[in-house]
Amino acid sequence: MLKRTHSCGALREEHVGREVVLSGWINTYRDQGRGLVFVDLRDRDGLTQIVFDSEGAAEDVVALARSLRREDVVSVRGTVRGRAGGANPRIATGAIEVHACELELLAKTDTPPILPDEHDADRIAEEKRLQYRYLDLRRPCMQRILRLRHEVARLTRNYFAENGFLEIETPFLIKTTPEGARDFVVPSRLHPGQWYALPQSPQLFKQILMVAGCDRYMQIVRCFRDEDPRADRQAEFTQIDLEMSFVEREDVIRMMSGFVRRLWQEIPGCSIGDIPTMTYADAMDRYGIDRPDLRYGLELVDVGDLAAASGFRVFSESLAAGGIVKAVRIPAPGDRMSRKVLDGYTALLQGFGLGGMPFARVTDAGFETGVAKFLEPIGPALRERMGLQPGDIVLFGVGPRAKTLKGLGELRQRIARDLDLVPEGVWKFVWVIDFPMFEFDEDAGRWVSLHHPFTSPRPDQFDLLGTDPGACLSTGYDIVVNGSEIGGGSIRIHRRDVQQRVFDLLGLTAEDARLKFGFLLDALRFGAPPHGGIAFGLDRLVMHLAGTENIRDVIAFPKTQSGQDLMTGAPGSVDPHQLDELHVRTALPEPAAS
Ligand code: AMO
Repeated sequence: MLKRTHSCGALREEHVGREVVLSGWINTYRDQGRGLVFVDLRDRDGLTQIVFDSEGAAEDVVALARSLRREDVVSVRGTVRGRAGGANPRIATGAIEVHACELELLAKTDTPPILPDEHDADRIAEEKRLQYRYLDLRRPCMQRILRLRHEVARLTRNYFAENGFLEIETPFLIKTTPEGARDFVVPSRLHPGQWYALPQSPQLFKQILMVAGCDRYMQIVRCFRDEDPRADRQAEFTQIDLEMSFVEREDVIRMMSGFVRRLWQEIPGCSIGDIPTMTYADAMDRYGIDRPDLRYGLELVDVGDLAAASGFRVFSESLAAGGIVKAVRIPAPGDRMSRKVLDGYTALLQGFGLGGMPFARVTDAGFETGVAKFLEPIGPALRERMGLQPGDIVLFGVGPRAKTLKGLGELRQRIARDLDLVPEGVWKFVWVIDFPMFEFDEDAGRWVSLHHPFTSPRPDQFDLLGTDPGACLSTGYDIVVNGSEIGGGSIRIHRRDVQQRVFDLLGLTAEDARLKFGFLLDALRFGAPPHGGIAFGLDRLVMHLAGTENIRDVIAFPKTQSGQDLMTGAPGSVDPHQLDELHVRTALPEPAAS
């Protein structure tokens, strides 16, 4: 076999006159007739133009070249020369071409079902791209993402190694972890009727590593959650998982901010500076969501006091029922905010259980359309609080607090998209802190953790565990960029009595707690250092850095929305004999009656 001397992206003018060997795939092929063949040869580094003609190569080589087709795999020996037809500035090797003298056909291809052509790929159905993933991954833009992901992993390992973190692996066949999603489970052959779970995260192992004196742990680790995939979610995804001993919240936030700064400095070359913090309460009040997108305004402003004075029944009835009234200023939307668009927004809020969406247009004199007449009594105060200008629209969310915030939070994002208010190339990071420890789950009639049950209350909030759990704030923190949660963690409970208290509040019986987390409670008896950590979603980090909104673009072999691997055909059936060995019997659901 011809031995490759350079990659297809390497040759430049300075190589002119050198004899080289290149290997790769036929990207494009042009038979000019009269024994002249042009080929663009591609590998992961780039493209090089190869010329076959009777001046450079024997007749049988030219004949073989004429039989080539796109995606055949070849090696070529030849001499580098300046491009006869003039340089092509669009490609890195555009100044040169290789005048071939020898050609080795390494593999002939069948007609590929898709061609790895950048320009065509967007028109290919995603199912086809996933089924023939090896062809899809040949595309230069996919190669760039694989390389970017590798780069993120490398920078991650470097940063944390420099800061004294040890990379330690944790097991995949474990007992269930409580991250709140469904577990994937694996039957045990050696223990009939017993099951392993695949980790939703290494949470408890990393805490145990702190008890074991490892001090600073990191791992780039696969996690498994049997939940419905979404645009930024996969059932099988990767975390950069971290834990530190003898730290408080601010120490973890400082260390992790440094990591994110390094990544953004090294990859897009952006200096993101200090990352601000915002309390959960503030995020909910101003943005209606705990992962606010700070690239644009459209803040929610509380106008409950003014609304009460307006005399408008919709406002006063909601306030009397304990609800809220929030207003949003849409700056000068012009004719982009037609009646139809506003009706769409009303329908969106109604989808969240709100009655409607009172609104008005701001004029020089006051307000017009919608609920204008009800706003006149509070006009000046409303204008001042909201900074309203003629030409603006002001709209209101009215109803129970949680639903209203949620609805307006969604609506705010929709308006920003509709009015093109989201600037390109801007990174807005924020740490969200001071989450409540618990939320009351009305359906289940009990408290549930907002983060997970191992998150510690803030040191000044311990007493509230006993007196007012709903008011107790946690040490949890999430890091958000442009409205997407890229990581989350907390300082953990390191005292057994506090952990037991939290389990009690969550309605876990002593027996349950012992069965599920006995090993953690045991470990906490034997000298656990104060500790805390975080996990970043590696896939999400890469999505942001690659500028894609589809998580499947940043994973070499992703699953579809319904959890299938279209290339291998997983999930699939197994041999009944395998099931016998595992002592497992299948009970399929009854087919739905037609
Ligand atoms: P959490 O569940 O918040 O925390 O996960 C941490 C980060 O992982 C990413 N992520 C996902 N990415 C893709 N697909 C998914 N299905 C998915 N689920 C989560 C998110 C998220 O911010 N053990 C805790 C961390 C800790 O407390 O240290 C944990 O797993 O970016």
